[in-house]
Amino acid sequence: MKKHYLFFTGLLALAVSCSQGPSGSMSDSDLNIERRVDSVLAKMTLEEKVGQMNQISTGGAATGPVLGNNNDMTDLRAGKIGSILNLVGAERTREAQEIAVNETRMGIPLIFGLDVIHGYRTIFPTPLGESASWDTVGIKESARIAAIEASAQGVHWTFAPMVDISRDPRWGRIMEGAGEDPFLGSMIARARVEGFQGKSLTDNNTIVACAKHYAAYGAAEGGRDYNTVDISMRTLNDIYLPPFHAAVEAGVGTFMNSFNEIAGIPSTGNEYLLRDKLKGEWGFKGFVVSDWNSIGELVNHGVAADEEEAAEIAIKAGSDMDMVSGSYLENLPRLVKDGVVDEKLIDDAVRRILRIKFQLGLFDDPYKYCSVERENELLLHPSHREHARDIARKSIVLLKNEGQVLPVSKKTRTLAVIGPLADSKKDLLCTWTAKGQPDEAVSLLDGIKKKVDDGTRILYEKGCDITGDSKAGFASALSAARRADIVILAVGEAGDMSGEAHSRAYIGIPGVQPDLIKEIQKTGKPVVVVLMNGRPVTFEWTAKNMPAILETWFLGTEGGDAIADVLFGDYNPSGKLPVSIPVTVGQIPVYYNHKNTGRPFEKGEFFTSRYLDIPNEPLYPFGYGLSYTTFKYSDISLNKTKIAFSEPLIVKVKVTNTGEYDGEEVVQLYTRDMVASVTRPVKELKGFKKVMIEKGETAEISFELTSDDLRFYNDKMDFVAEPGDFKVFVGTSSDNVKEASFKLIENGSKD
Ligand code: NOJ
Repeated sequence: MKKHYLFFTGLLALAVSCSQGPSGSMSDSDLNIERRVDSVLAKMTLEEKVGQMNQISTGGAATGPVLGNNNDMTDLRAGKIGSILNLVGAERTREAQEIAVNETRMGIPLIFGLDVIHGYRTIFPTPLGESASWDTVGIKESARIAAIEASAQGVHWTFAPMVDISRDPRWGRIMEGAGEDPFLGSMIARARVEGFQGKSLTDNNTIVACAKHYAAYGAAEGGRDYNTVDISMRTLNDIYLPPFHAAVEAGVGTFMNSFNEIAGIPSTGNEYLLRDKLKGEWGFKGFVVSDWNSIGELVNHGVAADEEEAAEIAIKAGSDMDMVSGSYLENLPRLVKDGVVDEKLIDDAVRRILRIKFQLGLFDDPYKYCSVERENELLLHPSHREHARDIARKSIVLLKNEGQVLPVSKKTRTLAVIGPLADSKKDLLCTWTAKGQPDEAVSLLDGIKKKVDDGTRILYEKGCDITGDSKAGFASALSAARRADIVILAVGEAGDMSGEAHSRAYIGIPGVQPDLIKEIQKTGKPVVVVLMNGRPVTFEWTAKNMPAILETWFLGTEGGDAIADVLFGDYNPSGKLPVSIPVTVGQIPVYYNHKNTGRPFEKGEFFTSRYLDIPNEPLYPFGYGLSYTTFKYSDISLNKTKIAFSEPLIVKVKVTNTGEYDGEEVVQLYTRDMVASVTRPVKELKGFKKVMIEKGETAEISFELTSDDLRFYNDKMDFVAEPGDFKVFVGTSSDNVKEASFKLIENGSKD
């Protein structure tokens, strides 16, 4: 055994011992970190270990009950706090860090966490909106910039990405995820993790990501936040877990539990999820933080009699850090001393937490993120705004463009800009805005003003509020519409109508806005409806009666410029829906990758799966989105019609831009397993490519599929591909595809 001296910046020197252990496949630096972690752990008292597992919140966004005196630094000095959430700013984080490093016995640095969900100071589109870009490079860049800005203000750790699949737009948190599809969700999860964490966590501009909320939080019954989830193991594994697995494969440092139960077991106490799946099967080496007080809430769930039992259940299940409930701090030392909880579980949790702190380089320089110079230089940097505008315009989905109302001419003589969202900056940022400032955002009205020719007259009228029933503003709005050559009508939800604890039962456009839309339509003027919303909203009448509709979500700081780019043709829209838009709430859940059922809908047949009053299909399906140009797809060509398990299937199509504009197209590939040991979806996304095709040009798009892409949880719950017949589809949206067939055969088989 060798003696080493490990120096904590400026202060405390610890004698640590380092033993040789099996290296496995670990790199030298990983091995070095493991040794340093073991050395620190060996010096810690039980109370100090439990302190590392305790996270408190100081100020900021409290997303649940505020427990105890969280601003009291006594606990910090006593080594009872391992992490602080919601504390930001180079100077403020430095002050707290100095206490942790200089005044505690072990001198272990704190890790500062914050919800950096869609940008830090420069705000990008909501995660759902940004997912409509299907641009994983751009999405990664947004996360990268968010990390650069957040780290400049002392933040080490973001509670993002949220990778919850959701098929329910009533659920307000659908705006925080990537929509309804596990494949798209996995690609985006990976991009966001890689963006936040960059090349190396030791860099001072990377932050640790957190895949949340583990798991199936988006499947809350009735779309009501925090509600019960009761899904099968197969649905859990096939639909809800893949993005989490993708995050692990991308090297995500942390996970967060979800508030919900799944089939009777709350996630915070779910050993299958945490120990078997995450830390076992997937080999996750980072740590799991509870959600806000979710350990304490095991009592409300009715699986723990009190907080002591809650702490016992959570640590045994594999929750490593307690977000704000205080239950670990209060109970774990006693539970260990009484022999109820094995100290090895505590050691494992603390080892995971220290590992991340080492990976961040905090033991080498605890203040590396606390730089006022970087803070001043980097927040809202012009290059960040530039990217925000680019990714925002890529996120816009053109839903309808009858009679080519769009793009609008910049030379239009009189333009009416109407609607309660037309001149709003605040709503553009939506919820989870970190340090985003509404006054730094560009409203739609501002964006339009910057875009049009000097001679264009703009008539702006709010018309009505987002909610409420006053129609007092209708008359002037209608008068403006009548005087204009074209109307831009910005309607939708308020920015704070989605997000945590913001479920809605009626998901239509709120207030008297639907009446305003109808009145404006009666003027007979060409109208472009600009929708703004966190969740998909329902707007059946508008979809039928208004000629042009843009889905713009909430696009962030550069929202107004981005929409203006699309409105006036400086950017040809390329977004595709990451989630189905229902006709009405009664259809929910409505999603493209549904099962066939024993009685699939057949026109003219009564006893088939259908509604009497509405179609089965959503208003707009997953993957849908128009362009100012048109794309023509060739038939699919396959390299083979039979592939063995070991062989690739090459799927090719030619896509021709047949319209008048250069444009980007998201070419989507789906498969269907025709006969399997369990029922399989009618379509499953397995690949996509976003390509720019100039007008008149043809691009050949090629995908490679292998049997690995065709795996699912079979009748024995084994993750396998089964031989047999498949269909492959390639097209412009989930409901508009070319199709071909192939067979998967056993290696060496002649079938
Ligand atoms: C509760 C939310 O569910 C979670 O997403 C968030 O990260 C924490 N609060 C911390 O703010």
